[in-house]
Amino acid sequence: MDYFDQKDGEPVNPSTEPTIGEVISRRTMLKGMAAGGAFGLFGCSSMGTAGAADGSAPLTFTELPRSTDEKAQVAPGYAIQVLLRDGDPIRRGAPAYRPGQQTGSEQELQFGTDADFISYMPLPLGSKNSTRGLLGVNHENCRAALVFPGNPKQLTRQQCEVQMAAVGFTIVEIAKQGNAWRLVDDSRYNRRIHTGSPMRLSGPAAGHARMRTSADPTGTRSYGTFNNCAGGTTPWGTMLTAEENIQNYFSGDPTKGPEAGARRRFNMSGKGRYQDWARYFPRFSLDKEPNEPNRFGWIVEIDPYDPNHTSVKRTALGRCAHECATHAVSHDGRVAIYSGDDARMEHVYKFVTEGRFDPANREANRDLLDKGTLYAARFEENGKMRWLPLVHGQGKLTAAEGFHSQADVMIELRRAATLAGATPMDRPEDVEAHPLTGRVYVVMTFNEQRTAAQVNPANPRANNKFGHIVEIVPPLVGGKPDHAATECEWGFFMLGGDPANPAHAARYGSPVTANGWVAAPDNLAFDPKGRIWISTDGQDDAAGFNDSLYGAAVSGPTRGATRCFFNGPVGSEICGPEFTPDGRTLFVAIQHPGDGSTFDKPSTRWPDFKAELPPRSAVVAITRNDGGEIGG
Ligand code: FEO
Ligand code: CA
Ligand code: CA
Repeated sequence: MDYFDQKDGEPVNPSTEPTIGEVISRRTMLKGMAAGGAFGLFGCSSMGTAGAADGSAPLTFTELPRSTDEKAQVAPGYAIQVLLRDGDPIRRGAPAYRPGQQTGSEQELQFGTDADFISYMPLPLGSKNSTRGLLGVNHENCRAALVFPGNPKQLTRQQCEVQMAAVGFTIVEIAKQGNAWRLVDDSRYNRRIHTGSPMRLSGPAAGHARMRTSADPTGTRSYGTFNNCAGGTTPWGTMLTAEENIQNYFSGDPTKGPEAGARRRFNMSGKGRYQDWARYFPRFSLDKEPNEPNRFGWIVEIDPYDPNHTSVKRTALGRCAHECATHAVSHDGRVAIYSGDDARMEHVYKFVTEGRFDPANREANRDLLDKGTLYAARFEENGKMRWLPLVHGQGKLTAAEGFHSQADVMIELRRAATLAGATPMDRPEDVEAHPLTGRVYVVMTFNEQRTAAQVNPANPRANNKFGHIVEIVPPLVGGKPDHAATECEWGFFMLGGDPANPAHAARYGSPVTANGWVAAPDNLAFDPKGRIWISTDGQDDAAGFNDSLYGAAVSGPTRGATRCFFNGPVGSEICGPEFTPDGRTLFVAIQHPGDGSTFDKPSTRWPDFKAELPPRSAVVAITRNDGGEIGG
């Protein structure tokens, strides 16, 4: 089947949910369903009502040319407002930013570095307020070369403390007046979560012997979170932050002791970017605290609406280099959490809760993520795919392979998934279910190391420099997507690269311009009209121009025609795209502007362009000058 020659477009989710009912009439849905027959993959080109949330509405902005500029750029008629920069005080009375001179205790009260995932949650809880809400932001890394003067090769204790406070998560209240957003600096919600924040461990690995350390002989309490890349939310109004490349934080000899095999699969060299932490803090020494790495690589649940809430590491969702953790409510109220494991040849996962989401009782959902089944994806050649359960005692997940409990399966998730037969992917990043159709978009950023002998149906290109996006179609039950299903259909949404260059073997659903093709896709968002927005991380290496944000229809006559809306400043990656419910603000994280250069000689001084200030990661708010919806 040639997925690209057919236009997708049939809305597959019926209008029983109020939010869907608002945009697509039941009559239209039924007509579409009849036309689409059994809802085969990309089966029908007939569309729902124009302007509905099916992602078919044409994008109206003027596409940008490519950029290698030191400034950020947005399509004409739109404005970029810098909302929060690394080092900005997050509450009234917090210390001012002192570039290159900060202490850890100052940084704990300031916005962190390397902003990535963004979640906007309206205030009050349950409303659709698009002018006042809580912003949750991940802080993935703290790059010594850009944050400290002199490009230090060995960090002082103070510098390590700054890094430990700079990574993690930020929650702030923000408000909009006209088109301008501001930090509400006296909000009780504003807080930082970082390497020193107390956390609770829950689920099958909590309390297990492999989770115990000298600081926590119970294996149920941990300190902190780091390398928070992308994330997600839950339907009950909590945020999920994903701990990704945690292997970079531990030092010592990884080959000694019973955890050596698990470390090898995590590419833990003992010589990562943060190897100086162990100099001053023994818990990061593999020799002194061999189990400490097992307490990272999880999905952490954070309640932004409760400033006193202790964050929880949900071990039922498994341990890997989690890129994200995004939700979809299934036909029967069970909740699926999708995640990619961002490493070459690693896998795609979904967790399905045992219990059902109760929209009327927030407390009843509190521990839904502790019980359920974790699956890994296996893609077949015939457009079918299976979700393989990773359950101790089933298949090869037994003592014979070293799995003595479900805790072992969760701690060594990668090995378990491979043994179960999961497909090795080209660095799975964001995974997001379309809010209306339920189709699941899975981003593979790139994998230039895949050989011709290693191609498989879902990763069809050797030396995949440009990345691709797979589209999974869950079956319908009673007209609603079944996100608990173990058998789905799939195809490609796009194969990145330049379609005008045959060597790229790129494919898009509709023609793209010379400025519209994509390299190294990473994060996704859907706007209220159901169109997809794709941000990139690595276009500079792959194609020689700055990272960008693209919009595209997911159905209709321009399905898959990516158009460039935003270009980051040189050196940055673009993360976190997040819309307010009204679609009139788009928050974007500009991560590591100037990467590849140094604090003293930066390639850009975005966003301040002052001689005394280095480049700083930041969250920006993009609005349309006339106040209208982003993308038109
Ligand atoms: Fe942190 Fe997978 O990007
Ligand atoms: Ca990412
Ligand atoms: Ca990335």
